[in-house]
Amino acid sequence: MADQEQILLRAQDLARHYKVSQGLFKPKATVKALDGVSFTLKRGRTLAVVGESGCGKSTLARQLTLIESPSAGSLEIAGVDAALASRDVVKTLRREVQMVFQNPFASLNPRRSILATLDEPLLINTTMSKAERHERIEALAAKVGLRSEHLRRYPHMFSGGQRQRIAIARAMILNPGIVVADEPVSALDLSIQAQILNLFMDLQAEFQTGYVFISHNLSVVEHVADELMVMYLGRAVEVGDKATIYARPLHPYTQALMSATPALRAADRRQRIVIRGELPSPLNPPGGCAFHKRCPLAQARCAVEVPLLRAVEGRQLACHLV
Ligand SMILES: Nc1ncnc2c1ncn2[C@@H]1O[C@H](COP(=O)(O)OP(=O)(O)O)[C@@H](O)[C@H]1O
Ligand SMILES: [Mg+2]
Repeated sequence: MADQEQILLRAQDLARHYKVSQGLFKPKATVKALDGVSFTLKRGRTLAVVGESGCGKSTLARQLTLIESPSAGSLEIAGVDAALASRDVVKTLRREVQMVFQNPFASLNPRRSILATLDEPLLINTTMSKAERHERIEALAAKVGLRSEHLRRYPHMFSGGQRQRIAIARAMILNPGIVVADEPVSALDLSIQAQILNLFMDLQAEFQTGYVFISHNLSVVEHVADELMVMYLGRAVEVGDKATIYARPLHPYTQALMSATPALRAADRRQRIVIRGELPSPLNPPGGCAFHKRCPLAQARCAVEVPLLRAVEGRQLACHLV
């Protein structure tokens, strides 16, 4: 199907640097929160973005949802370069890319009923009549597992899992091409996580939405991902087909993340790699390969030469040693 191959999102060397104060009389420093990331997302597919806290995942999400403007690189949404688009076109692009956050309580207005929450985007962005809007809201509420009597209630009256269902419904109400979900199940109990992941997959099967699914946990994204991008300090270190990478992770960092994930370690006892230390500050990143100080395999070259992504065994890999 040609339609299946439609590219919804194309990021090229996308970067976002922040100027931060280091104190009153010191010059400002630059945090390279996102430092040149490239990928494409197709209709009906899921790109999972994984990496430790602080590696730039939420910064990437803010660029993709047009909450911020990137410092460098380009972003195409539905074939339109977001940086070159007029204000009116940007408005329509914003509608195309919706976001689901980690904490559904913080992202829902406590004073607004679920009905009003779901009605607002329709009211602002469409010319639908009240009856049409309500029909759409009821239909979508049913799909995300809410009953019609829930619509009159307020966010605090729901459990965390139900609140995330509401947040997902709000993201889907305008039928966007793309949903960026930033750690959408990380705050939920394990048993609820699986239900919400299944909901994401059911909605994608029905609406062919493209997902950028962000998580620090490789076992969470294993079932939802089609493609996988492993990030370290603002850059991608391994990118490719999910099954290929899970079957045989090649970057020492990906291997370490996998062996730190109990559910995955059980399936793959070939190696047990422990990463030393913490993620370095992006204010003062190590030279060469940003991972070299924590890498169990690092050699002299890794401290001086930045590894670039290149094709290795069916994926993109940034490592000198493989
Ligand atoms: N607005 C900002 N100003 C300065 N630094 C920021 C800002 N937003 C994020 N950062 C820094 O950028 C890095 C990446 O942050 P973030 O994208 O939130 O990572 P993640 O979502 O992977 O945990 C962190 O070091 C964070 O402190
Ligand atoms: Mg984050």
